[in-house]
Order: sequence, then structure tokens, then C-alpha cells
Amino acid sequence: MAARQKFPPCGRLVLLCLLLAALWEAAAGQMRYSVPEEIDKGAFVGNIAKDLGLEPLALAERGVRIVSRGRTQLFSLNPRMGSLITADRIDREELCAQSAPCLVNFNILLEDTLNIYSVEVEITDINDNAPRFGVEQLELKISETTTPGFRIPLKSAHDADVGENTLQKYELNPNDHFSLDVRSGADGNKYPELVLQRALDREEEALHHLLLLAYDGGDPVRSGTSRIRVTVLDVNDNAPAFTQPEYHVSVPENTPIGTRILTVTATDADDGYNAQVAYFLEKKPGETSEVFELKSTSGDIVIIKKLDYEDAKFHEIDIEAQDGPGLLTRTKVIVTVLDINDNAPEFYMTSVTSSVPEDCPPGTIIALFNVHDRDSGANSFIECSLPESLPFKLERSVDNYYRLVTTNPLDREQVSFYNITVTATDGGNPSLSTDAQVLLQVSDINDNPPAFLHTSYSAYIPENNLRGASIFSVMAYDPDSDNNAHVTYSLAEKTIQGTPVSSFVSINSDTGVLYALHSFDFEQFRDLQLWVTARDSGDPSLSSNVSLSLLVLDQNDNAPEILYPALPIDGSTGVELAPRSAEPGYLVTKVVAVDRDSGQNAWLSYRLLKASEPGLFTVGVHTGEVRTARALQDRDALKQSLVVAVQDHGQPPLSATVTFTVAVADSIPDVLADLGNLEPSRDSDASDVTLYLVVAVAAVSCVFLAFVIVLLALRVRRWHQSRLLQTASAGMAGVRGSHFVGVDGVRAFLQTYSHEVSLTADSRKSHLIFPQPNYADTLISQESCEKKDFVSASQSLLEGKGEETVSQVNYL
Ligand SMILES: *[C@@H]1O[C@H](CO)[C@@H](O)[C@H](O)[C@H]1NC(C)=O
Ligand SMILES: *[C@@H]1O[C@H](CO)[C@@H](O)[C@H](O)[C@H]1NC(C)=O
Repeated sequence: MAARQKFPPCGRLVLLCLLLAALWEAAAGQMRYSVPEEIDKGAFVGNIAKDLGLEPLALAERGVRIVSRGRTQLFSLNPRMGSLITADRIDREELCAQSAPCLVNFNILLEDTLNIYSVEVEITDINDNAPRFGVEQLELKISETTTPGFRIPLKSAHDADVGENTLQKYELNPNDHFSLDVRSGADGNKYPELVLQRALDREEEALHHLLLLAYDGGDPVRSGTSRIRVTVLDVNDNAPAFTQPEYHVSVPENTPIGTRILTVTATDADDGYNAQVAYFLEKKPGETSEVFELKSTSGDIVIIKKLDYEDAKFHEIDIEAQDGPGLLTRTKVIVTVLDINDNAPEFYMTSVTSSVPEDCPPGTIIALFNVHDRDSGANSFIECSLPESLPFKLERSVDNYYRLVTTNPLDREQVSFYNITVTATDGGNPSLSTDAQVLLQVSDINDNPPAFLHTSYSAYIPENNLRGASIFSVMAYDPDSDNNAHVTYSLAEKTIQGTPVSSFVSINSDTGVLYALHSFDFEQFRDLQLWVTARDSGDPSLSSNVSLSLLVLDQNDNAPEILYPALPIDGSTGVELAPRSAEPGYLVTKVVAVDRDSGQNAWLSYRLLKASEPGLFTVGVHTGEVRTARALQDRDALKQSLVVAVQDHGQPPLSATVTFTVAVADSIPDVLADLGNLEPSRDSDASDVTLYLVVAVAAVSCVFLAFVIVLLALRVRRWHQSRLLQTASAGMAGVRGSHFVGVDGVRAFLQTYSHEVSLTADSRKSHLIFPQPNYADTLISQESCEKKDFVSASQSLLEGKGEETVSQVNYL
């Protein structure tokens, strides 16, 4: 169509003019057409027939055909229509690439005339290609420290189309950090560049995704896309950071060694080696660093030394965290040690008394002490206590001071020593306690008199004891101590029958042993009442008394004494009468004896020791009665001589014998006659009256004679006694005091006996009536009745009245 106009007008104008001339020559046979690319096959290009000046149908007749030089025919002829049409779909980019315009030349031959015509078809561009990038995805790596303004060239895009349809512009999707700048190269191409607008931070965004778009100018516009991935490279621009600005942890002081108490953690926002954190203890002089260990990789804090609340209540640990390249951060760990009740209370004795007198008043202070517990809080709260049974109490004072005081009076005799255990218990759970011993001696006060073991004592001493022999001992016990318990004994001053007690017995003041100073005689006195005083040596001293009865025991020291029949004064044996007509069992006489001893020692038995006519008489073992054993016969001798032995039951027994004569006669005159026979001086021829006169005279004579003898004997005895008193000691042992025990009784018996004899004599009966037995009983009863007299006799004897009684005895 208007191809000429497309020639450039300037520079090569001359050349063009030449060329135009040639073309003009050819133009006579040259045809020009234009057709867009990519049009369908068979599309109309130009009306050849008309341009050739032929009838449309004449084309076939004239043999019109396209001549080409071995190339693929892009066009063909439509003979029916006489037009040039496309033989195939035509791609301009394939045919001409970027060159423009795109012209296809060929020739048409008219066979009939052999005319050649030149045909030029221009293929016009349509926007059938989009811009395309060489790589769809672009990887970029930029350090986070890159400064803004930094440019990174990007891969360009290409568009196969030409002209307006080719690449026109680039665009970048909006983002915070990057912008796009397009440079036009010297060749006219456009080169996109990425420009860093704002600093990158890997820690904020490590990866940026960008989209680069390329647009052409066609209608419609086509575009191409390239994805750009920008990786931000890490730089160690962050120090490690601890999770807490300061760590606090509380640990009981008894936490075992090796326990992990805390883990510190520091994080580093960087990456890789830049984020590799290690932990270190900041070394400070002091022991804190030795108590804990920090695991450098894990951040664990472990106890390596025993904690002690009482040493340090808290610990401060300075810790550094360091990343690979060496950026540091510090933090502080405060370890608070919690108190555990691991300390028992402690005692501090301020003042202790070791000894108090037993009479100290209640409230006396024994000790002052202080208790202390090294723990704190409730663990250091202390309670002190005492065993309940003790007479002490604790008084609390200020500042955990306590006073130990007495509550009750003390008694050394009950408890002389106290081992007081004071227990201090703290308030922990479980609680701990400590004991303290306070030893207290109770000193003695003389508050106890000596005490005898019995309220009274009785001691039995056999008579005839040795003088100076120990006879008894008393013992008094004093519960006090030392001098207060040192007992001395003494006898209370007292007189017995005018003689001081000290002349009878003495006492050893230290031992309490009593000694007899006399040989006691039971027959003299039978008991002695004493008071023994025991006195301690305290100041003032205390004493107590006890009564002591000394009872003298009888010994068989007196032989029986025969009172009847008494020996006649002239030395001959006594005569008893027995009628020849006496029946067997007739009481001839009775042997009467006494023993001044008592009991067994005075229990007498009688037996016939010797008789001139054995078997004629018997003697009552206990009564002493002499009886006929059978009837008297004429052949029996007139005079029978008997020996009776009296024996007591002492150990050994003592005995006495008496010898007397029994005259056997039919009547008193016989008896008297017999007596006359016995005593030749007597006249046997007297009548009854004469006999009585004789008897009376004889009796009076006898009494007188006896009286004279008694007087004589008295004189002799007085003289003898005065001699004795002068020579021998006048001790009472020498006095035979109770000589006359029962004397009155015997006298009474004998009087009764004689009275009855005289009565029967007065009645003038042919037979003498002899007394009946049982006088022994009378004697015994009288004797018992006269016991008092016995004692009074002893007393009278002691009082020196012995002589009269002695004379009485002699008289009897
Ligand atoms: C006191 O009593 C304690 C315990 O009861 C004991 O260990 C200590 O030996 C006693 N002290 C004396 C002097 O008796
Ligand atoms: C002991 O006996 C003496 C004298 O007999 C007397 O004065 C004193 O009071 C008695 N003491 C006692 C404790 O009986």
C-alpha cells in the first residue's frame, strides 16, 4: 500500500534516489501488499488480477503463477477470484525476528506473455508475544547490614514482538524495603535494577518475596513475571538476652549438694553461630563462686557446697551469657537461703549455785542461764522445761534469760542431791532440744534429833554377872549428816534407893554400849529403870530420850533351906511322934523347906534319902509330908531315924538334907517315956499331974535356955559382924537379904501345929489327935500372900535392918 512513505528521508538521500529510480523502472511491474501476521490461511492479500489489468477469470487462462526460488510459498493465487491469498498462517517473528518492516518478495509469471511481475508483501506485526524473563525465580542474598541505596541488577525480560508490541516497562510489587529502577542501556534496551530503600533486619524478616512484572505496549497489554526471593544474611547484631532481668530463687539450707536450683536462659535473635550462647559465672573474689556451679552450656545452676543459713542468708551470682562471636549480656541471680531447724538451742550458764542449805526459803535462786538458737523465726523460739516432780521451777526473764528457783522447802534427809535436767526445745518442726544439767547439793542443817529404834528397851541380865561386862547396847540414828548426825549417849542422872544410877551401870558415850558396874543379885532387886539420852553434835544440838528397863534374871544360886524340922539347939536330931496304932498313910510330920530363888530354881522336891527301917515311911515328893507306908508293928523299933533330901530344879540343882527321929509310941506318956529313954535325964515314973508339971517345967526351962542361947548367939554375931564390916567391903552382895523368904508363913504353920497339939492334950483323951495334912498348902498360900513382905524384907535388908531378922531366924 503506502510503502514508499516508509523510506527514511535523510542521510542516504542520493542512494535512495538512485534506488527509487530503479524501483520506478521496475515499478511498472511491481505490486505491493500488506497483510497482518497470524491471519488465517486463505485470507485475502491483494487483487492481483486487477493490478495486472486482467479480467479476474483470465488469470487461469493466461497461466499466471507465483515463482519462488525454492522457498516455502507463503502465498497462493485464487484463480477464480484473481486474488492473492495466504497459503499458510504466517508468524512474523519467525520470518523476520526483530527486523522491521518485514517484507516478503516474490514474482508472478504470466506464462502467455512471459512477463514477470514483482510482488512485495509486507507482514505487519500483531501483539502475539508477551514479555518473558529468562529465569522465573531469582534468588538473591543480601546482608542485613547493607546500606540503603544499594543496587542489584536484575535479569531483563524479552518480548519477541516489535514496535509498540514489544517490552515497554517494568514494575515491582509494592514492598517496604525495595524499589525498582530501570536503566536504558546504550542499545536501547531497558535494564531493571533493585534498589534497597530501607535497611534490612534478618531478625525482623529473614526472607523477602518480590514480584517483578514486565509489560509490553500492545493492545491488549501482555506481561511477564519474575519472582525474586531475597534472603537476608545474618550478622551478629544481637547480644544474647536473658529471659528475666534478675532471677530470684529460694532454697532451703539443707538442699543436698548437686541439686539444680535454677536454670538461666538467654536467647540470641541471631542465627547459627551468632546465636550459640554460653554461660559463665562472673568471677568475683569471695566464696559465692565456690558455692554454686554454672553449667556453661545449659545454664543450670547447681549447689556444690553446703548452704548454711546461719552463714549467709542470701547469695548473689553474676552471670554472663556470650554468643559465638562474643557478644555479652549480664544478669544477676539472687539465691535466698531458707532457714531449716538445724541448730539445737544452746545454753549459757551465767551463774550456778552448787549447794544450798536445806532450810533455804522457797524462791531461792539456784541458777541463772541464757538459751539461744542460731536458727531464725519459729525455729529459734525456745521453750525451757523441768521434770515436774522436782521442787524447782523456771522463771523467765528478759532476752531468753531464765532463773531456776526453788518452789518447796528442801529436805536433805529425803533428797540430798539434785541432778536437775533443764530441757530447751525450739519451735521448729520437728523441733530440736538440748539438755543442761544443774547439779545441786543440799547441805545439812541440824533439823533432826537422834531417834532410837524403839520407843523403850528392856534388857535381861542374868544375876551374878561379871562386873564391867557389857550388858546391852542402844542405838540412836540421826538422819542428818556429819556432826549433826554424830550421836553421843548418856544416862539420865537418877538415884535408885539413894544410890546414883551411874554407880550401877555406865554407858559408852560413843557406842551406846551399857556396862554393869555391879554384879546384880536377883534376890536383891529385879529391875532397874534407866533413861538413855542420845544427843547429836549439831549447833544447837538435838536430843531424845528412851527408857530402858534392866531386868535381872534369876539363877539357881541358893540351895533349898529347910525350916522344919529345925535342928534342936543341942545338936541332937529332932524327934517326931507317931502312935503305934497309926494307920498306913498316917502323917507323921512334914518337911518344910524354902528356896530364895524363884521359878524352877525354887521348885522343890523331897525324897527320903535314908531310913533306919526302909519301907516304913514315905515322903511326898512335892509336899514333903512324911507318912507311914504301912501299919506300925511291935517289932518296929521305937526310934526310927530318917534323912530327907530337898532338891530344887535349877541347873544344876542344889539340895539340902535334914535328919530327924520318929518316936513310935502308943500314947503321949509312952512317948515321953520313950523320950526319957531317949534322953536318960528325964524321970519316967511321973504321974499325969507330975508329967504335966514336968512338961511345963521342962518347957519353961527349954524356953529359958533357948533365950539365953539366943542372947549369946546375938552377941557373938554382932561382934563378928562388926569385924566383917570393918574388914570387908560393905557391899550388899554380902548381905543375905532374902534369907527369910516365907519365914512368917512357916512360923504361922508351926504355931497352928503346936496349938492343935496343946488342944488335943487339954482334952485328955487317951489318943492324941494329930493334925491332918494340907498344911503345905497353907504354907504355899501364905507364902504367896507374903510376897510383898518378901520384897519389903529385901528392902529393909537393904536399909540395914538385917540383924533383927537374923536373930529371928536363929530363934526359930
Ligand atoms: C545427771 O543426769 C544425767 C542424765 O540423766 C546424767 O547423764 C549425768 O551423768 C547425771 N550427773 C550426775 C552427776 O549424776
Ligand atoms: C529427856 O530427859 C530430860 C531429863 O529427864 C528431860 O529434861 C528432857 O525433856 C527429856 N527430853 C525428851 C525429848 O524427852
